[in-house]
Amino acid sequence: MALVSAKEMLVKAREGQYAVGQFNINNLEWTKAILLTAEELKSPVILGVSEGAGKYMGGYRTVVGMVKGMIEDLKISVPIALHLDHGSFDGAVKCIDAGFLSVMFDGSHLPIEENIAKTKELVELCHAKNISIEAEVGSIGGEEDGIIGMGEVADVNECKKIADLGVDFLAAGIGNIHGKYPENWKGLNFDVLGAIQTATGKLPLVLHGGSGIPDDMIKTAISLGVSKINVNTELQVFFAAATRKYIEAGKDLEGKGFDPRKLLKPGFDAIQAGVREKIILFGSNNKA
Ligand code: 13P
Repeated sequence: MALVSAKEMLVKAREGQYAVGQFNINNLEWTKAILLTAEELKSPVILGVSEGAGKYMGGYRTVVGMVKGMIEDLKISVPIALHLDHGSFDGAVKCIDAGFLSVMFDGSHLPIEENIAKTKELVELCHAKNISIEAEVGSIGGEEDGIIGMGEVADVNECKKIADLGVDFLAAGIGNIHGKYPENWKGLNFDVLGAIQTATGKLPLVLHGGSGIPDDMIKTAISLGVSKINVNTELQVFFAAATRKYIEAGKDLEGKGFDPRKLLKPGFDAIQAGVREKIILFGSNNKA
């Protein structure tokens, strides 16, 4: 199946009370592991690409070429959306030109009027080309690609203003944090999530910082309108741990163990296991 926009899969998820995983990709192994797992579980998935990861992989055109080629060669039949994660205005325009069918514009660090103006412009640009667009209100905590968010809880009126621009899905800070959650984390703010849901109706909501949130909180968030959950850090940790184990066991020194196809296999398997677990937890299996 060709790349799709994320709109339809998220509208379906919102109606069906489950969430589609956005798994961030960093290289070929990551991408292949996620695509094969989605196919195995008959689940739609969203491949997230941050601006930093896009640059690392060679550029947005390289990413589009790799993902499209892999979908074809691996005969992936489930819906796959390639989505810019936390994009700037210019980054979103570049991804649209490169062939992404879904982008996030993160204007959460801007004054709200500027966030509204820029989101509005991108909504028009995206919708003229059937590209889905995610916006953000209330920056997500933690660090990602060198940008530190303060972990705000979004203002419900601001969420409504951005939703009314016609965005396809909305990320709102509700105490979620990118990266590892600290010991003293207070948990997700479900009162605010409930109020955002009431204010924005059927709009699919997005939960960033999906690594390390307890399963019961994930389920409650889905019941309150969260239809897309982003996961990155957990996959990185699994990949690193599996690779370390392989090297510490001296496997890279045995036979042809240094061959990157062997060296990266445990990490690849660990990503598949992590993605499998999340797809089942989010309930998107057999929903393709
Ligand atoms: P984690 O790295 O905490 O899983 O968050 C991912 C994310 O929200 C990407 O936008």
